[in-house]
Amino acid sequence: MFTHDRSQFGSGFIFGTATSSYQIEGGQADGRGPSIWDSFSMTPGNVRGAESGVIACDHYNRWEEDLDLIRDAGFDAYRFSFAWPRIMPDGRGAVNAAGLAFYDRLIDGMLARGLKPFATLYHWDLPSALQDMGGWTNRDIAGWFADYAQIIGHHFGDRLHATATINEPWCVAFLSHFLGKHAPGLRDVRAAARAMHHVLLAHGTAVGALRGEGVKNLGIVLNLEATEPRSGSDADRKAAELGDGIFNRWYLDGLFKGRYPADVLAMLGPHMPENHAGDMAITGAPLDWLGINYYTRSLYYSDPAVPVLGFSQERGGLAKSDLGWEIYPEGLTTLVTRVARDYTKLPLYITENGMSETDDRRRVDFYDQHLGACLDVIRAGVDLRGYFAWSLLDNFEWAEGYASRFGLVEVDYETQKRTPKGSYRAFQGLLHNSR
Ligand code: NOJ
Repeated sequence: MFTHDRSQFGSGFIFGTATSSYQIEGGQADGRGPSIWDSFSMTPGNVRGAESGVIACDHYNRWEEDLDLIRDAGFDAYRFSFAWPRIMPDGRGAVNAAGLAFYDRLIDGMLARGLKPFATLYHWDLPSALQDMGGWTNRDIAGWFADYAQIIGHHFGDRLHATATINEPWCVAFLSHFLGKHAPGLRDVRAAARAMHHVLLAHGTAVGALRGEGVKNLGIVLNLEATEPRSGSDADRKAAELGDGIFNRWYLDGLFKGRYPADVLAMLGPHMPENHAGDMAITGAPLDWLGINYYTRSLYYSDPAVPVLGFSQERGGLAKSDLGWEIYPEGLTTLVTRVARDYTKLPLYITENGMSETDDRRRVDFYDQHLGACLDVIRAGVDLRGYFAWSLLDNFEWAEGYASRFGLVEVDYETQKRTPKGSYRAFQGLLHNSR
């Protein structure tokens, strides 16, 4: 059980849970095209246990049961993502009617259960045909993404409560093109610099397309991480500052200040696309809300041997999840209040927060502590409007495969049986009888 009461969050506060298409749907049936995660996960060494999302939680066929679980917990909202290659198998051109029909069923199913649909247009399953043309390194992705956004807006827009363009642009750009840990698995500073700009350019262009279709309540979802120096030395402080620049300020400045931070621009040097400064009115297109995914912190230290970055990072001595991520609820409070103070007065949502852990009692404590951190944010006067637990189900945790379990509901991957955990019951206790 949680130690908090729903009434402490205020009457309009939205509680939800979140998933993403590639992590749960499975179902290459009915014309879904291949995505970069299909090929990345089939390449040896990329995903623990050589696992993939080919079947995942079979949500494509079991969505009704999954929506029932969300409703029965008492959640107000469900954050899900559209699979671009299910809507447009080649990423451009032909639209797959069966793909539209799946999301029609899903969205109508949410509405029938009184759940507010919070949609994300891009949660990492880029159509492979677009990767063949350079994917996020190609400036044309802004147009490809806007065309896809227009189709989504036209077909589904009036049924969506809130729409985010892109989930976690740092992961789309840096983790996937510089660190090489996610698809397409590049490790190249030039590709990373281009992706870091094009991801925000595509976001802003898609906002224009969605507005053109009359879609309301538009936002983006950033992953922010607490970046702290390992020691009090000047060199370590500088390392943490640059880490904050790459992880947090790049996206916040690009969205809300109309420029990129000078320290990161200097680091990327000549690799940025030409005339990027001329695009900043687009990257800064006005929004209606901002989503923040928060999980943990990293400790930074100077490491001159590392090219480009000049730093390394490590985990500190706090209690950790089974992925080794430190449990640090204070970081949520600090980051969210900082965003409200330094960047925007827009309504904010915690669009993801959760823990990979097999011992579910630890997950209950994790959620309890982070809900407390949200209450601290609210008490500080910040316009925090909602909180989404990651994730409804155990699912395909990207490079970590299925061993990592973030779910409120356990999935037996042999039988696809869903079993609510204690953390699901804890949310049910918090939300019960209060809608
Ligand atoms: C953020 C991502 O949006 C989601 O896909 C992932 O599973 C969680 N973090 C946990 O790592």
